[in-house]
Amino acid sequence: MNDFLRRLLFLPDQGATFSARVDHLHFLVILVTMFGATAVFATALWFTWRYRRRDELTLTPLVRAPVALELAVVVGLFGLFLFFWVLGYRQYVRLRVAPDDAMEVYVTAKKWMWKFAYPDGRRSLGVLVVPAGRPVKLIMTSRDVIHSFYVPAFRTKQDVLPGRYTTIWFETVAPGVYRTFCAEYCGTDHSRMWADVVALDAVQWEAWRAGADPSDLVAGMLHGDDREHGDRKLVSVAFAPSGVVQDGEPVSMAQRGLEVAARKGCLSCHSVDGQPHIGPSFRGLYGRVEQLENGTVRVDEAYLTKSMMEPMADVVRGYRPVMPTYLGQLQPAEVGALLELIRSLREPLPTPPGIGYPQLPTNPQDGPAQSYEADRGLETIPDESLAPAQAPAGTPGAPAP
Ligand code: CUA
Repeated sequence: MNDFLRRLLFLPDQGATFSARVDHLHFLVILVTMFGATAVFATALWFTWRYRRRDELTLTPLVRAPVALELAVVVGLFGLFLFFWVLGYRQYVRLRVAPDDAMEVYVTAKKWMWKFAYPDGRRSLGVLVVPAGRPVKLIMTSRDVIHSFYVPAFRTKQDVLPGRYTTIWFETVAPGVYRTFCAEYCGTDHSRMWADVVALDAVQWEAWRAGADPSDLVAGMLHGDDREHGDRKLVSVAFAPSGVVQDGEPVSMAQRGLEVAARKGCLSCHSVDGQPHIGPSFRGLYGRVEQLENGTVRVDEAYLTKSMMEPMADVVRGYRPVMPTYLGQLQPAEVGALLELIRSLREPLPTPPGIGYPQLPTNPQDGPAQSYEADRGLETIPDESLAPAQAPAGTPGAPAP
């Protein structure tokens, strides 16, 4: 039934875990509205016949529906819409909220291409390589105009905006290649602003991390509807090692973020060891719920980027509003690296009992955090390398030069 309706409506394969659920809601709404439309038309036809004018002398009878019937129709329809809303809201939340253990990839859109940056320092152009069967969260921004990241097989889509970070997540159900489109008109080559999501199984994933070319790995593995176009090639595969490789090893985004933070002066006000300074420390910041002057905010990519671009908007209680704006001062790659730095510092340093940082909720199924970080290939930054940043010269408590 699912597959029959999917083909009837010309929908692509269901490539992500929530695709089938989205389709089921789609099918339900379509079937109910088609049934409703048929019922309305049939009633109209029947009324036309039933209440037709019989002869010249008979007056058309005045028909009044009982109040109970009118009430039943109004309440029934309202209940139906509420039912749709409840189902839709649950799906909306499922589609919008990425699981905590999602692997992050930073996405930069520009006319007319998609660039992907992985926390381990790798980058790719036009091809997003992900492990199949694991949640992946994309943290996206644009360098020029509004684009939109759309994967029809995943049934998910998100606008990509200049100067802001938006997120989207998915978990593929099987290894395969899924075509990505730009779904917001952005100029001459909008219709060719493609990318491919390449979902690899565990063996292929390891091969890719060891340096294999994704197009070799997925040869003959095109997914579902694409099998009929077996000669389809990946849009493009290009890894840009320049600038992110040191001694032949990719430099992790967190490491680059630390360099950006030092170069741009972030570390003069934000420590990385958990000690509040002129601004909140980067350590333990990500995921925390902060008290603002009016209300609270959960520190996520959206809040962090807003704080960089509009620092006066949501100042954390207890800090003076002295941060300058970095709007136009940071490249998207630098913002991404800073975000990854702050994310990598999400675990607070071990503190003596009694001082205690708010602990992040952990999911017991996630396994230990270390193996997760190692699994992502995230370099952990040894604390010695942070030493110069811990106590900037001229601050109270800094050792005398
Ligand atoms: Cu980018 Cu349309």
